[in-house]
Parts: sequence; C-alpha cells; structure tokens
Amino acid sequence: MALLLAIESSCDETAVAILRGQPGEATEILASEISSQIELHREHGGVVPELASRNHSLNLRPLVDQAIAHAGVGVTEIDAFAATTGPGLASSLLIGSTAAKAMACALGKPFLGVNHLEGHLLSPFVGGTQVPPHVALIVSGGHTLLLEVAGAGRYTRLGGTRDDAAGEAYDKVGKMLGLPYPGGPEIEKAAVGGDVKAYDFPRSMLHDPHLDFSFSGLKTAVLYTLQREEGNIRLPDLAASFQQAVIEILVGKTMKAVERTGHRMVALSGGVTMNKALRAAFQEACDKRGISLAIAPPALCTDNAAMIAFAALLRHLDGQSSRLDEDIFPNLPLV
Ligand code: KG4
Ligand code: ZN
Repeated sequence: MALLLAIESSCDETAVAILRGQPGEATEILASEISSQIELHREHGGVVPELASRNHSLNLRPLVDQAIAHAGVGVTEIDAFAATTGPGLASSLLIGSTAAKAMACALGKPFLGVNHLEGHLLSPFVGGTQVPPHVALIVSGGHTLLLEVAGAGRYTRLGGTRDDAAGEAYDKVGKMLGLPYPGGPEIEKAAVGGDVKAYDFPRSMLHDPHLDFSFSGLKTAVLYTLQREEGNIRLPDLAASFQQAVIEILVGKTMKAVERTGHRMVALSGGVTMNKALRAAFQEACDKRGISLAIAPPALCTDNAAMIAFAALLRHLDGQSSRLDEDIFPNLPLV
C-alpha cells in the first residue's frame, strides 16, 4: 500500500491531491484540492504567466495543509511526492515541482516528476490500477493528441494538431464573440438551441488519410463570417455550427484511429471533454461500432492533481522515481 501526494501547477490552477493505492487493487482519492485562478486571469482575457506563478506560490502552502487535513493522514505517512514537470509555463511549473522536491527532501522520500499530458491520458482510469489497451484522445486548451496506448507508460503517437489545439480554438472563437475566458464552456452554453447546420464551417483534414488535426482554418472561417455578417450574427446558431465542426473532426479522426489499430476501446481526456455534445457524439460513434468509451469524470477533465498523483502512483508502485535535480520541461512531449 502506498500514499502519494502530488502537486499540479503547470498553468492557472494550483492543485494538490493525495492518493492511496496498491498493486492490482483500487486506487482511492483521499483529497483533491483545487484553487482556480480563472477569475483572476479573466480580466486579461487569458493566462498571464507572472500572475499565475505568484498566485501558485501564495496558494500552495494552504492547499497542501487542506489536502492533508481532508485526507486525514500525517505528512510523515506519505510515501512519495510528485509534481508536474512539463509541459506548461516555466515559472508555474517551478513552483509546484520545487515544493514537492522540498517535501520529498525534508522527509527523505522519493520524488516523481510527471508529464501533465500523461496525467490527462490516464485520468479516465483513476480508481483502478490497470490501463487497458486503447485509442486515447487528449483534448485540452494546449493540446490535441491522438495516441495508441498499449498499457501504462507504453504510448505511440498517432496524430496531433498542426496548429491550434481544440480548446484553444474554442477560447479564440469565444474571444471573437466577446464571451468571457475560457471560451469553451461559454460556447457550449451559447450553442444551446442553436442550429448546427446554420453556418457551413470547414472540417479541415477530416478526409485526409493521416491522423493530424487543424483548427486554424475553422477559426478563420468564424472570423470571416463575423466580418461579413456585421452584427447580424445569430449567436446560438454560430456557436452550435462551430461546435459541430470541432466535434465532427475529433470523432472522425478518432474513429479512423480505431479502424487502423483495431482497438475496442476509446478513452477521452482533457478540459474539452467536459463538453456534453462532444461526449454524446463519441458515445453514439462508439455504440455504433460496439466498442467501449472511457471518459474521465468531470472533476478530472480539467486540470487537477488527482490525475498527476495517479500517473505518479503507477510509476511508484512499479519501483520508479525521478532525480531530485530533475529540471522542469516547458515543452516536454509525451512521446
Ligand atoms: O485540460 P484543461 O483544463 O487545461 C489544459 O491543460 O489546457 O483544458 C482547458 C480547456 C480550455 O480551452 C477550455 O475552454 C476547454 O478546456 N473547456 C471546454 C469546456 N470546458 C472547458 N471546451 C468545450 N466545452 C466545455 N464545456
Ligand atoms: Zn491540462
């Protein structure tokens, strides 16, 4: 049995989680605390790196205390400390990783550096200790990545975005429409009751044989539509049509990956998978093919530390650890 504390601070959420698990058994989230900075960055229309790192350093200590209190464990009982070491904002990554290393060092316990994307990738499986073979789609604000997963730690890249990430497209279109940051949930709300066929937006690269994505043409098409219609825009229709284009591209490419690999399971992760229309479209596509769909629960879709703790716990139970002088990697790839 192992107890692990993890810190996530790669972008604008400060998060601390404590997880308990043992090989072959269930894992249990004893605490998962998040201090969101969204309100703070909203007035700037996006994340301001210096503001983010200053607030991580202010929020982290009370959040660690809160996690320990919620988990009902003593800090000396914790067997290992982990933190996201990339990808992300350098100044934000440094706060979390330095704090986790300091705790590991002071208590003489191992430290584990975790790839933020591996946290997202494994988030649908938190609760167990097994990661079955599947096709994984990570769709967040910074990443759109399609992978073949053979098991924990065994990943092959199938495709990714060549320009904007899906969440980034949501956020940029939200900004064009004058909606608050982040645009994703706002566009989902605005799309309710809208006609998905009202505007004919491009599904870039959808029928190309490769498994890469492109969302910048879609974003530009929305911009041209806004300029052409000069204030006569029907917001629900435009939001629904944009959302439909994103969903069709994501579902289409993922199903192509399923056909190519022969896997019978799809797993979705990242902030964009909060979207109900996207979840429903994937469910329908998977049901049609008789394959299973795993999606992280809403609390584990957007940035959180439980997913980082889970990725670290699987490695800790496998006898792995990181060096205390391991650096942070703002552009760390997953594969
Ligand atoms: O995974 P995440 O919290 O952070 C990154 O690692 O990037 O994802 C944040 C992204 C943002 O782009 C946000 O607009 C998007 O997820 N998002 C959504 C929804 N909720 C969050 N996109 C579409 N529909 C939503 N309901
Ligand atoms: Zn993320």
